[in-house]
Amino acid sequence: MHEGASVDDGQRIQSARLRAKVTGADEAARFIAPGSTVGMSGFTGSGYPKAVPTALAARIEAEHAAGRPFRVRVWTGASTGPELDGALARAAGIEFRLPYNSDPLVREQINAGQMEYFDLHLSQVAPMAWQGFLGPLDTAVIEVSGITPDGALIPSSSVGNNKTWIDQARQVIVEVNRWQSAHLDGMHDIYYGTALPPHRVPIPILRPGDRIGEPFLRCDPDKVVAVVETDAPDRNLPFRAPDEAARAIAGHLLEFLRHEVKLGRLPAALLPIQSGVGNIPNAVLGGLLDSPFERMSAYTEVIQDGMLDLLAADRLSVISATGLSLSPPTAAAFNADVARYRGRIVLRPQEISNHPEVIRRLGCLAMNGLIEADIYGAVNSTHVMGSRIQNGIGGSGDFARNAYISIFMTPSTAKEGRISTIVPQASHVDHIPQDVQVIVTEQGLADLRGLSPKQRARQIIERCAHPDFRPALEDYFERARAHAYGQQSPSLLTEALSWHQRYLDTGSMRPSP
Ligand code: COA
Repeated sequence: MHEGASVDDGQRIQSARLRAKVTGADEAARFIAPGSTVGMSGFTGSGYPKAVPTALAARIEAEHAAGRPFRVRVWTGASTGPELDGALARAAGIEFRLPYNSDPLVREQINAGQMEYFDLHLSQVAPMAWQGFLGPLDTAVIEVSGITPDGALIPSSSVGNNKTWIDQARQVIVEVNRWQSAHLDGMHDIYYGTALPPHRVPIPILRPGDRIGEPFLRCDPDKVVAVVETDAPDRNLPFRAPDEAARAIAGHLLEFLRHEVKLGRLPAALLPIQSGVGNIPNAVLGGLLDSPFERMSAYTEVIQDGMLDLLAADRLSVISATGLSLSPPTAAAFNADVARYRGRIVLRPQEISNHPEVIRRLGCLAMNGLIEADIYGAVNSTHVMGSRIQNGIGGSGDFARNAYISIFMTPSTAKEGRISTIVPQASHVDHIPQDVQVIVTEQGLADLRGLSPKQRARQIIERCAHPDFRPALEDYFERARAHAYGQQSPSLLTEALSWHQRYLDTGSMRPSP
């Protein structure tokens, strides 16, 4: 470990060679050319560059004002913060975006057809970049917490695709952020053993806390064209306090896990948990705090507040992830007390945190949110009414397909009860029924393992649907059974998506009185 290599707060840039490249954000942004591809660090509102994208957005606005076109192609780890996605979108500066977004303005521009968006499994981004068909990467802009004397980069609060961006980019701009704790070093595990087939070898992670790589990012100093110093906080949205529905969902899920342990189908410490983005998964983690499970572990994508609480309370022994995703007060508390977590958090490249091979080997318990599920258990995580992107698939597919148990959870209604999240047919499918084993709403839990499609439909309607929509679902299912073309997964083709159309026409999925 590199306990002693920690940058001291007085001097974050210990390499004289890279110290000589320190410059302002405006000067650094000038290295980014119109039409070029920029690989930025960042995973949720953590570890993304803050100064250079803001300066780039200002430059783009000035060019647009002068009548000159200027847009860039932006690749990241996942979503980022307002100084990156928000600022560049306000400047109408993004031509193409991958692989995940939660910024409202970017979402609006994608849905208005003003920006191309490639939404893909987060574990596949780096391999696809190496396969070459995404095109060349011109510039990497990477936030770090410090630079070692020999020029290695100490990552900050997320790792994401940073290794791949640095390796692939023609030039690198480094943002050294003093707001990030100077004591993060040693928490990261950068694996340099990946290769494309036929040279690919097994990833040697046997337990969630295994370290298989190096604590720093290698970076050829000759590729670094600018180093920018910042002092700006990560900006994640605060979590909503769990409401009654979230507490009910957590309650059903915990009862299910206790039952599985009692039957000997899960060990007493469970299996490594994965918890997705959003308020409901965070509420479930809150529920685990009061659960009987001890010495749990997590092999997950991001560490939210609820996950850190479990670690602080020693309910979790170790967490592997690719980034922190903490609300502002929890991030501040974490920064003030990083030592408390040292040795119990491993931050990896997202290619490894989300690797199907490791997820399958460890037997993760995947818990993710959804937009809608249909009566046969197909899940839509991404598109509202079949065509409007919400965020993206993120890591939900990486985990759902390869989990020991793949669990999806949601309130049974959305938009003040006008939308049923259980529908006759999903308007878009991210997770096929075979990848969805358990669905939980505040109404109850449907354990779909080992069931045929018709058996699944009965469970989902009876246990998960809201009582206001249940009779209409039962009616649809019975009529489908009577009239469908086949009896394996009976459906009425002209009616299956009529609930969505009714919402678009009337503002509600509720059957007309
Ligand atoms: N139809 C229309 N809108 C719906 C809806 C539905 N069936 N279900 C939810 N929504 C809307 C909500 O009303 C809310 O809208 P608002 O922003 O206007 O208030 C929005 O979608 C988000 O819903 P919310 O209830 O706040 O859910 P969340 O924070 O738990 O997020 C997902 C749910 C599905 C959007 C989120 O889990 C996600 O992006 N998943 C995909 C990626 C993923 O799972 N990553 C983790 C893998 S490690």
